[in-house]
Amino acid sequence: MHEVLVDLGERSYPVLVGPGARHRLLEVLPIGARKAAIVSQDTIPVTVDAGIEQALFPLDDGEEAKCVESVEELCRAWTRWGLTRADVVVAVGGGVVTDTAGFAAAVYHRGVAVIHVPTTLLGQVDAAIGGKTGVNLPEGKNLVGAFWQPSAVLCDTETLLTLPPREYRSGLGEMAKYAFLGVDDLPDLALDDAVAACVACKARVVGADEREATSGRRALLNYGHTLAHALETVGRYDLRHGEAVAIGLAFAAELARRLGRIDTRRVDEHYAVLSGYNLPVALPPDTDADEVITVMARDKKATSGLTFVLDGPTGLEVVAGVAEEAVRDVLDMVQAR
Ligand code: GLY
Repeated sequence: MHEVLVDLGERSYPVLVGPGARHRLLEVLPIGARKAAIVSQDTIPVTVDAGIEQALFPLDDGEEAKCVESVEELCRAWTRWGLTRADVVVAVGGGVVTDTAGFAAAVYHRGVAVIHVPTTLLGQVDAAIGGKTGVNLPEGKNLVGAFWQPSAVLCDTETLLTLPPREYRSGLGEMAKYAFLGVDDLPDLALDDAVAACVACKARVVGADEREATSGRRALLNYGHTLAHALETVGRYDLRHGEAVAIGLAFAAELARRLGRIDTRRVDEHYAVLSGYNLPVALPPDTDADEVITVMARDKKATSGLTFVLDGPTGLEVVAGVAEEAVRDVLDMVQAR
C-alpha cells in the first residue's frame, strides 16, 4: 500500500493507494466520530464498512446529481439522521459524488469531516485530492463551491477493475498530464505505482499552492484543460472529460511549438504518452473554431486575452495574451479531417 501525505500543516491528511485501500476506513476515521454518513450512487458497485453506526445517503445517477438541490437534500437528511459536527461523511464514487458530498460536508454545521473513497481513475488522480468541492449551476460547471480538505483519501485500485472501458480511458486522459508535471516514465509504471505517483505529484502542487493563487502552481494542474473545458462547454461533441483533456494536451503542445517554446521532439513526447494510452489527439471534425475560441476567452484563468498553461524551456507556466491567430492556426492543424 502506498501512503502519500498531503502536507497542509494542521489540515494535512494521508492518501492510501492500493488494492483494498477502502478496507482501511476504520483506521482513518476522525477520533470521536460516532456516525458515518455514506454518500454514493446506486450505479457504484463499491461498499465500505466504517465500523461505527453508518447509513447510506444515495445521490441520483449522473452529472445532474452535482447540483445545489442535492446539497440541500443531503444536509436535510443528515439533520434528520442526527449527524453532528463531530461525525464524518464518507463519499464513495466518482467526481460527482466526491465534489457534491465534499461541498455538503463543507457547509453542513459549518463543516464536518469528510473522507473520500474515489472509485474512478479520474477521481483517484485528481478530483478527490486537494479539497476542491462544489456543484454545477444551470449557468455553468463548478460555479458554487468551497475548498474543504478531506481528512483522508482511500484510493482503492481494486475498484478501478469494475469501470466501463471508456470511463477508465477517460481517467488516463487526466493521468497523462502528470507526465508533463514531473512524473517521469509514467506510462511504464504499474497501475498502483502510477496512481500513487500522480497523487504524490498533485499533493506537492496542492501543498505549495492550496487555494490556486493566480499564476500559482495549482493552476498548472489545468494543463490541457482550457481547450478541454471549451469543448465540454460547447457540449456538442461526444467526449468524456479525460478524452477532451487528451485533445487539449495535444493542442497545447502544438501551440507551444508554434510559439517557439518547445521543439518537435517535445511535442512528439506528448503524442507518445497520449497514443500509448490510446487517447484521442485530434479535434472532432465538426469543431467550430470561432465558438471554441469565444468560450476559451471566457475561461476563469483568462485574465488578459487567451490564456493557456503551456510547456516551455523551464517547464509548464501560465501564458496570457496568446495571439488569436496562432490559436486559430493550431486548432485548424489538430482538427481531424
Ligand atoms: N483539478 C485541478 C485542481 O484540483 O486544482
